[in-house]
Amino acid sequence: MANRLFIFDTTLRDGEQVPGCQLNSTEKIEVAKALETLGVDVIEAGFPISSPGDFQSVVAISKAVTWPTICALTRAVEKDIDAAAQALQYARRKRIHTGIGTSDYHIRYKFNSTREEILERAVACVKYAKRYVEDVEFYAEDAGRTDNEYLARVVEAVIHAGATVVNIPDTTGYCLPDEYGAKIRYLMEHVTCIDKAILSTHCHNDLGMATANTIQGVLNGARQVEVTINGIGERAGNTSLEEVAMIFKSHRETEIETNINSQNIYGISRMVSSLMHMPIQPNKAIVGRNAFAHSSGIHQDGVLKHRESYEIIDPKDVGIDDNAILLTARSGRAALKHRLQLLDVNLEQDELEKVYEDFLKLADNKRDINDDDVLMLVGKDRTTTQRIKLEYLQVSSGIGLKPVASICLSIAGVKLEAAASGNGPVDAAIKAVESLTQRTVTIQEFLIQALNKGRDDIGKVHIQVEYDGNIYYGFAAHTDIIAASVKAYIDAINKIPYN
Ligand code: KIV
Ligand code: ZN
Repeated sequence: MANRLFIFDTTLRDGEQVPGCQLNSTEKIEVAKALETLGVDVIEAGFPISSPGDFQSVVAISKAVTWPTICALTRAVEKDIDAAAQALQYARRKRIHTGIGTSDYHIRYKFNSTREEILERAVACVKYAKRYVEDVEFYAEDAGRTDNEYLARVVEAVIHAGATVVNIPDTTGYCLPDEYGAKIRYLMEHVTCIDKAILSTHCHNDLGMATANTIQGVLNGARQVEVTINGIGERAGNTSLEEVAMIFKSHRETEIETNINSQNIYGISRMVSSLMHMPIQPNKAIVGRNAFAHSSGIHQDGVLKHRESYEIIDPKDVGIDDNAILLTARSGRAALKHRLQLLDVNLEQDELEKVYEDFLKLADNKRDINDDDVLMLVGKDRTTTQRIKLEYLQVSSGIGLKPVASICLSIAGVKLEAAASGNGPVDAAIKAVESLTQRTVTIQEFLIQALNKGRDDIGKVHIQVEYDGNIYYGFAAHTDIIAASVKAYIDAINKIPYN
């Protein structure tokens, strides 16, 4: 199918090269399986010669994953290719990704060589990899700054040597979108055997143009894109998978199709962010916390009347089920009414006016208003009906003391007490709660913020927990931040269905 675009994910290779983002083998398998469910075509699992850990990860991912092709990176060096072939031995579909720098910067300063010698090495490494696997991808490192005429000679030669895919990396993120698109077009038009291979994009984001360059590459003939989840990668990162997938899903006129199950995007984005300890910027396209959050009254009104007025993607299409309408001091009556209706509260117009006045007063002091605040405004405090309630909490902690918490919870009307120690007062208190609720959840996000300024301020805590594959949010505010933390935790676990 000429318009099928292959998605080559390199989160576990180029993405994982980011300092501090290293994953262990178990975590890599978790990500690889999620990538398989997402529908990627190729998983670049690592660079086996680089370390025994990377070698083992390629072996483990090859065993754990069924459908995607597993790819291993090498330099144009025989011992690298030997290691890659060995690491890939259990993969059902395997690919060796080998290559060499082709720009004059690389030829002169990195290899102290000549264009003719590099061309020979390029051909030799593809031929060598072909001894092991049918599917060989060649990368022309720094192709972005490689002279097009010479690049076309290299591409022609490696395809003759058996390369099935030829990767044209903009290694330094230097190209302009038109320039990168024209490079791909030049190769499509000047490499005589181009129909025997697929051209691949591999764009870095140093000037913020990775996605734009990738799109231009595809519109000019590339049929594979090398991308990472959340655009993670060295320096400013790589092209982000979710952006490319949603661009082609939204722009049907391009007739470009991928195999990505877009509803899995948000889940894997959060998984990669948390495993790699790499927060997602709030305004990141597609997966950022604010990507679908409308806060101005005019936009909120428009979205509520007709979603497409201000939204080009339905958040549900990328797996986001949250309420996208934020309640702030700029929200109008329509937004408040909508939130109340979601909470099963239907007010007459005059009642709504009254609640709206109170809402504005509260919103002046509180940056965003949550469901509990809204219920409180209409006299329906949800915490009174919650199954688990905090009766009392006592914590002792300090320098040189082991933090200990004593707690009393009322669970379905029965009062229970417990005590626990922990790394800190919050840890101790949450451990005590856990010992009574007997539900072990994973805390994925824990955010403490001051509401205003000053020593007597109220601390508000947002918590996100994971239980049985589902995410639950909790919120609480209190002048005592330990109490706010425990209440937020209890708020989240109260939302877990009880059976
Ligand atoms: O950016 C780059 O050039 C690369 C190659 C090794 C494919 O990551
Ligand atoms: Zn790269």
